[in-house]
Amino acid sequence: MKVPDAQRPACGTDPLEGARILRRGGLVAFPTETVYGLGGDARNLEAVRRIFAVKGRPAGHPLIVHLSSVDAVTEWAADWPEAADKLAAGFWPGPLTLILRKHTSVLPAVTGGQDSIGLRVPSHPLALNLLQFFGGGVAAPSANRFGHISPTTAQHVLDDLGDSVDYVLDGGPCQVGVESTILDLSTDEPVLLRPGSISGDEIERVLGRKLTATPASTRAPGALPQHYSPRARVVLAGEDELSRCAEREAAAGARVFVLSQTRPADLPLGVLWRELPLEASEAAHELYATLRSLDTEGADVVVACPPGAVGIGTAVADRLRRAAGLGNLPEAP
Ligand code: TXA
Ligand code: MG
Repeated sequence: MKVPDAQRPACGTDPLEGARILRRGGLVAFPTETVYGLGGDARNLEAVRRIFAVKGRPAGHPLIVHLSSVDAVTEWAADWPEAADKLAAGFWPGPLTLILRKHTSVLPAVTGGQDSIGLRVPSHPLALNLLQFFGGGVAAPSANRFGHISPTTAQHVLDDLGDSVDYVLDGGPCQVGVESTILDLSTDEPVLLRPGSISGDEIERVLGRKLTATPASTRAPGALPQHYSPRARVVLAGEDELSRCAEREAAAGARVFVLSQTRPADLPLGVLWRELPLEASEAAHELYATLRSLDTEGADVVVACPPGAVGIGTAVADRLRRAAGLGNLPEAP
């Protein structure tokens, strides 16, 4: 019996149903340990085109292909360097995306016309079940409108993309909360393109060599200066400048929130404070949900103090800089 569209379950917890929809060329939002992805069959051009359309994402921006295990990489990558082998053994399934030279069979639409492809095996059990049941590669950007912050709950996905998705697989809040670490292995030098919960230091230890810290050049949308942004304007300030900066913004009539790990003692009247947890992994876990809630509460300006750039704190600081339109982290000294 055909189920009328209006009765179609938009949200559920059944990865088998998700896999069926993917096989029919539909779009399934699914949880990963980092953020929710907007998935489609990476071998189906119509599905891939719909991902770009639903997100409002420019065609030149490549998608990550998600796989159920490292065994599938030969169908997607033209070569598999020793470094990739070490990193996959060390961190997959997990929040690390590897950029490799792409296999000739990969649809150009997936890679935004580039010769390279991003691959990752996520560790969230529902994501792995979905990928195993589906049996192929799932192209999936973060399941948000282009330029907005990534979703870390099923409700965030519904808020951003609503019924333009065929099914939302609900796996609860994402454990990590910021997107995967991206490492480019498609050229001679490994390059860290996006910091995440797997730090550069951890990667260096596994590779037994130093990394190039700053993206040399990339067409990755995550590398655009203004990306991962809430509706409110984000302004960065050091701990001792927070109150002065917030006062200046509030004087101009804006509804101002300060987002920092410790509450400034001299918070100006009318300025509200929101805590960024001291523990960097908790800060990452809560960052996007907090920014979304500040939008809901009508914030015009968020004056934020990024945490120290250590471990996953680097990724949190990076996303706050990007939300503020300041782009990538400056090169380490
Ligand atoms: O944690 C994550 O990586 C999440 C979950 C869903 O897996 N996905 C995600 O996808 O953040 P997206 O599309 O929002 O960000 C992926 C980043 C983009 O900046 C994209 O340009 C970059 O990866 N990327 C993908 N393929 C690439 C390639 N071949 N070369 C360079 N950058 C690439
Ligand atoms: Mg994204």
